[in-house]
Amino acid sequence: MPYLFDNTADQTVERFAVLESRYDLFSQGQLGLTGLGPGWRCLEVGGGGGSLACWMGERVAPGGEVTVTDLEPRWAATRPRPATVRLLRHDIVRDPAPGDGFDLVHARLVLLHLPERLHVLDRLVKMLKPGGWLVLEEFDSSWTPVLAASDEVASALFERVHATVLRLLEQAGAEPVWGRQVLGAMMRAGLEEVAATTYAEAWQGGGEGIQFHRANVEQVAGQLAEAGIGPRELEQFWALLEDPAFVVNSYPLISARGRRPRQ
Ligand SMILES: C[S@@+](CC[C@H](N)C(=O)[O-])C[C@H]1O[C@@H](n2cnc3c(N)ncnc32)[C@H](O)[C@@H]1O
Repeated sequence: MPYLFDNTADQTVERFAVLESRYDLFSQGQLGLTGLGPGWRCLEVGGGGGSLACWMGERVAPGGEVTVTDLEPRWAATRPRPATVRLLRHDIVRDPAPGDGFDLVHARLVLLHLPERLHVLDRLVKMLKPGGWLVLEEFDSSWTPVLAASDEVASALFERVHATVLRLLEQAGAEPVWGRQVLGAMMRAGLEEVAATTYAEAWQGGGEGIQFHRANVEQVAGQLAEAGIGPRELEQFWALLEDPAFVVNSYPLISARGRRPRQ
């Protein structure tokens, strides 16, 4: 099944820029909780723009290494990488494992898109060394309340367009609320010391975070038209994203971690 937000599209740059600027600091804090440090061998799955892989690459020096994979590595390839970081074109569903015995495996907003997410979760657990950490960070896309709007028409427009995007995601095999399922899935996969923290913030019209919705909606505009969201509604939607009176909650990112049993 094709990935809805195919990463060869122009909107990818904006999507990755928002993920990096709005979520990297939180993700770095969560990764730090595992003890990530010099000498660690790490796998970053579906690394996208590569910002977190490069940050991990700095942390594991000297002596460590980070393998960062993606179906479409062209975006990470344009970023200067520390010598500790190796970039691979790789499909986590179908290709042979890019290594094993990792101290840390991390994926942010990748399994959510994959119909085979439970199979991939099992694969990732097997790639860990005994005692190694898996950190999966995923959205609960259902909790994006409108926090401020000039009127109810504005809120209703956002909710209608957003609900249609979520339906398209589901039709493409994604699970928009995988974030709220991931901790339980990690427990069932046999991980220990499982814990999670959630991060969200307010995204105001005209600000950087809310441009995530621009990138996503623009990329699937053709499919939205087929689903009944016409050009006039889209024009109003673009105006909403620039209106400082409009504020919506960001997608909550649930960062879940757990360890492979030592035995
Ligand atoms: C929403 S982006 C997240 C990018 C990055 N992890 C981040 O949080 O900034 C999802 C990424 O997963 C990659 N991806 C999707 N399916 C994949 C697969 N089967 N194997 C490897 N990467 C995949 C996409 O190419 C894309 O870069």
